[in-house]
Formats: sequence, C-alpha cells, structure tokens
Amino acid sequence: MNQITQRPAIGSAHSKLILLGEHSVVYGMPAIALPFPLLEVVSTVEEISDQITLICDYYRGPLGQVPQKLRGIASCISETLHILNQPQKGLLIRLHSSIPIGRGLGSSAAIAIAIVKSLFAFHRQNLEPEVLMSLVHKAETFAHGTPSGIDMAAALSDFPIWFQKGKQIRNLQLGGPLYLIVADTGHFGDTRAAVLSVRDKFRAYPESTQKSVNQLGVITLEARAALSTGNLAWLGSLFDQAQAELVDLGVSDDSINRLVDTAKKAGSLGAKLTGGGRGGCVLALAKNLAHAKRIANTLIKAGASNTWYFRLDGNG
Ligand code: PMV
Repeated sequence: MNQITQRPAIGSAHSKLILLGEHSVVYGMPAIALPFPLLEVVSTVEEISDQITLICDYYRGPLGQVPQKLRGIASCISETLHILNQPQKGLLIRLHSSIPIGRGLGSSAAIAIAIVKSLFAFHRQNLEPEVLMSLVHKAETFAHGTPSGIDMAAALSDFPIWFQKGKQIRNLQLGGPLYLIVADTGHFGDTRAAVLSVRDKFRAYPESTQKSVNQLGVITLEARAALSTGNLAWLGSLFDQAQAELVDLGVSDDSINRLVDTAKKAGSLGAKLTGGGRGGCVLALAKNLAHAKRIANTLIKAGASNTWYFRLDGNG
C-alpha cells in the first residue's frame, strides 16, 4: 500500500445509552436516551494510491473483502462516496473505537456517523444534517433491519433526548444530577435478533405483548416527570418496572438478570438492561457518585466484563 503524505481527515461520534423505552420505541412509544461521551469512535481518512483499505480492530485489508459482520460499514463507505460523487478507490480508512460492539451502546450508529463525517471532511464537502441522517439510517438498516432511529438520534445529540418515531426529537432538561453505572455482561447482544423475537411474540401473543409495550410507554412518560423533578427514587422504581416488562417481552437473559440483581443488592435505586438486550449492558441508578463507584466495583466482582460510572448534570 503506497501512502501519500497528507494530514488525515477526521470524523468522530460518541456512544449512547437508552434510559427507558427500548423495544417499545419500535412500536411507536416514546423513549429517553442519553449521549455517552465516555466511549467514542474516530474515523480517519488518508489518500493512498491503491484500492480502498480498511483498518479496524476486527479487520485490516481491502474494503471489497471485509467479513460479513463489517459489510454494513463497507456499504456505508461506498454509499457515502457515491453521494460525494467520488471514485471507490485511493483511500485508507482507519477506525479507532472504544465502544464495544453488540452491547446496546450504539456502536454501529456511531461508526457510521464517524465514517460519513470523515469522508465528507476528506473531500472538503459541507455535510448537511439530512444527508448525514439519511446515510446513517441506511447503515443502521443494514445492521438492525428496522431501526427506530433512536441510536442515531442519541449519538448525534449532546443532550438527553425524548424520542418518538416520526415526531420531532426534543432535548430534555434534568431537574437534578443522575448517577449512573453501565455494566457490560461481556455477552454479545444481537439487536436484530432481539427485535425480531419481539415481533414474533407480537404474532403469537398480540394482547399481552401490546400490554407490555403500552406499559413501557407509560413508564417512559412517568420517567420524564421523574427526571424533570430530579426524583431519583421514583426514577429507580421505573427502571425496575421497565426491566420486569422487558423480561416479559423475552429480551433479558441470565447474564443481564444476574447483574440487575447484584446492582439491586448493592443498593441501586433501580436497574435494567439498556439497548437491544439478550446480552449487552445493564444500566443502574445510584444515590451519589461514591455509591455508583461501590456498585460498579460490586458488579465487576459479580462477573461484569467492564463497568463505567458517571454523574450526568442537571443541564445534560
Ligand atoms: O442498538 P441497540 O442494541 O442499542 O438497540 C436499539 C434499541 C431498540 O429499541 C432495541 C431497537 C430500535 O431500533 O429502536
């Protein structure tokens, strides 16, 4: 690979967390999501005199030969170059990501955003928000099948958001700080399979599934009020109620249930899965930062492969 010396163009995007409303958001209910800037993706683009080459944690080689799990990324790159009216050659694209994949933390949306931004920056083209969203939506459809769009919206936002399919996204003001712990089960959560399993459940048990989805919508509405008043105890109990509904929907699993129980026994105000579930991550609410640190340590001892804890301030 002959590299031509030039400063690389850069695009980046952060991770996201769904506070409440995963899965029910696919069926039109509202959801609340947060940017999670502790984890991010950076994409860099340089010119080379060769075919397009991709370098990331899982692959190093020509774009045309990426393994199945990276096909969404490959199609996002091709599609973006097509929109830019640029040839499909002569680029070295490197992805550096601290977002674990398949953990409900929005890695696929963040990767797509970072790639599109870096390719537009490389070609010195202005990137309109609608063009970015349309390209990322295509990449997300590749990754998830029928994405609600919440991952993309949260990965593009610097504030907590209120998201409902087809409606305007709203920033949420918090009445007080939140102390959150994210714990990784270490198990890959396949969002596409989890979403399809809920769809199957709808076909087999329409009434009870609709009831769970509606209840998740009610819980999310209440959470908006709990957030605006900074009522942590109320919010925590809503996390627990949401987790019970997600268990009924069949998207939790033993690895999640174990970490949820551990967090609750360590005094968490509430704990639930976040994202697609069936593996992935657990989100727990603490009383303060020291409490969050203690819960995070306990979760590691109980088998979490990684934890992050942080304070989210009232203004987001
Ligand atoms: O990509 P994940 O695993 O964070 O899940 C996204 C949330 C779902 O509601 C499960 C799917 C969707 O498209 O909204």
